[in-house]
Amino acid sequence: MDKFYLTTAIDYVNGAPHIGHAYEKILSDVIARHYKQRCDDVYFLTGTDEHGIKIQKTAAKEGITPKELCDKNSQKFKDAWKALDMDYNRFIRTTDEDHKAIVQKIFQKLLDNGDIYMHSYEGWYCPGCECFLNPKDLTEDGLCPDHLRKPDIVKEENYFFKLSKYKDAIIKHIKENPDFILPQFRANEVLNQLEDIQDISVSRAKSNVQWGIDVLNDPEQSIYVWIDALSNYITALGYDTENPSEMFKKYWPVDVHVIGKDILKFHSIYWIGILMALGLPLPKHIFAHGWITIDESKMSKSLGNVISPTSVIENFELSTPDAFRYYMATTAPAGRDGNYSDDDFKEKVNAHLANSMGNLLNRTLSMLVKYFDGEIKPEFDINNNELVEGSKALLKTALGKVKIVENHFDKFEIAEAGQEIINLVDLTNKYVTDNAPWTLAKEEKMTECGQVLTTVLEVMCVVSALIYPYCPNIAQDMAKQLSFNLDSVKLDTLDVHNIKTGKLITKEEIHPVFLRVDSELADKSKALVK
Ligand code: MSP
Repeated sequence: MDKFYLTTAIDYVNGAPHIGHAYEKILSDVIARHYKQRCDDVYFLTGTDEHGIKIQKTAAKEGITPKELCDKNSQKFKDAWKALDMDYNRFIRTTDEDHKAIVQKIFQKLLDNGDIYMHSYEGWYCPGCECFLNPKDLTEDGLCPDHLRKPDIVKEENYFFKLSKYKDAIIKHIKENPDFILPQFRANEVLNQLEDIQDISVSRAKSNVQWGIDVLNDPEQSIYVWIDALSNYITALGYDTENPSEMFKKYWPVDVHVIGKDILKFHSIYWIGILMALGLPLPKHIFAHGWITIDESKMSKSLGNVISPTSVIENFELSTPDAFRYYMATTAPAGRDGNYSDDDFKEKVNAHLANSMGNLLNRTLSMLVKYFDGEIKPEFDINNNELVEGSKALLKTALGKVKIVENHFDKFEIAEAGQEIINLVDLTNKYVTDNAPWTLAKEEKMTECGQVLTTVLEVMCVVSALIYPYCPNIAQDMAKQLSFNLDSVKLDTLDVHNIKTGKLITKEEIHPVFLRVDSELADKSKALVK
């Protein structure tokens, strides 16, 4: 693998970020950090989607300009991602000048090639979706099924993209590439939607929507949000219709677009049609995650349960975002809906991160200090053939887990990979119980006792590498206590010979990597996105 390029959806800025947005960004950051352990060149893109009627209306209501609203809210997303330790390469804003200029060129190229044409149109427009709805998709009461509001009737002269021209090619691509849309169960849904796909509106009349990118040679029309938004994936790399940049040549096609299930249609149909019309290679994978509910209810302002991305960290007074990252990244099987609840959060992170993982490291290091003054003796060498029972098998399982975790990541099964890591920790705990190093010490079988502890510490090096994408701070802390250099780890070459002979640690240097979350919640209402 010589490069890995991944993107998130870019979020609308008509409000502040919430835990649902955070879910996608955490999944993406975990994926990016995992691939950094497999490849030297990862490019990770995220950002905000800033044009359209909704922003225009919200800004008018607040008595500020659309740009002021975008600046204010875009910063809230950036701040939230910083608090979650997201390590992206670029935060693109669709109001960035370089993006706007390239979008205009893309539109012009499609127009010049005859893929875009002018057409008079009347349709149902939902500002929530920022798209025209098919009358057959409305509820019985004529409402948008997602936003439960009546769409506006819009009659306009618009530019249209000849999506129908690419219908057969898109169907063929989806059918011939079963890994293109992941999880695979979503592909059928897309194939059904493709059956009655029509040409799509790609501009709005300036008289109705002023907050958009102008069509180059037509001041009466502004470019419609989805063509503007989707193009961010290539404008961010400096794609140019005539002269693609070195960055573009290096990173395109994208390895994965990480998006929510609600916008799969735009990515796997509209975007693919546009890329085909531009003559560009197609994304390798589109991964559609499920949605997050709060206490099993859909988040909504009217229910007053829309919680901010950082609220969990603040309420439980956590010193790093790791536990929240871990919880969110493992809350749902790939592509399925997940749920957040305070009780579940406490229970899961205490069980997995404090009791199973943190405690295992802590008590193993403590025994090393107690019995051997923190020293790894040459006779503890795990290459020794006479290891106590179960040691070789455990070490082999640990290395096998690396492959299993990689295979899950290749299908973006982040929760499933996390479960495998915890399973390894559980097996290691069982190995400790079975071999009872405290009994070995009592019986003065010191070599065996030392070998058991060393075996566990070797496995913990592997665990720290595998858990790093989810919990970067905890993993670094574990690695530090193991004198293991996580920064240079490449999973392909990771082995179980990382614990060096000699003094490993002193009593004072041992500390828990994760403290149990026991506190009662602070004022919960502070967490809500108002
Ligand atoms: N701006 C468009 C995306 C353009 S991508 C070229 C958009 N923005 S959004 O702010 O409405 O949503 C951004 C992402 O957050 C989407 O992938 C969406 O699925 C995700 N989520 C929004 N609410 C969510 C939950 N409650 N749960 C999980 N993800 C959710 O769509």
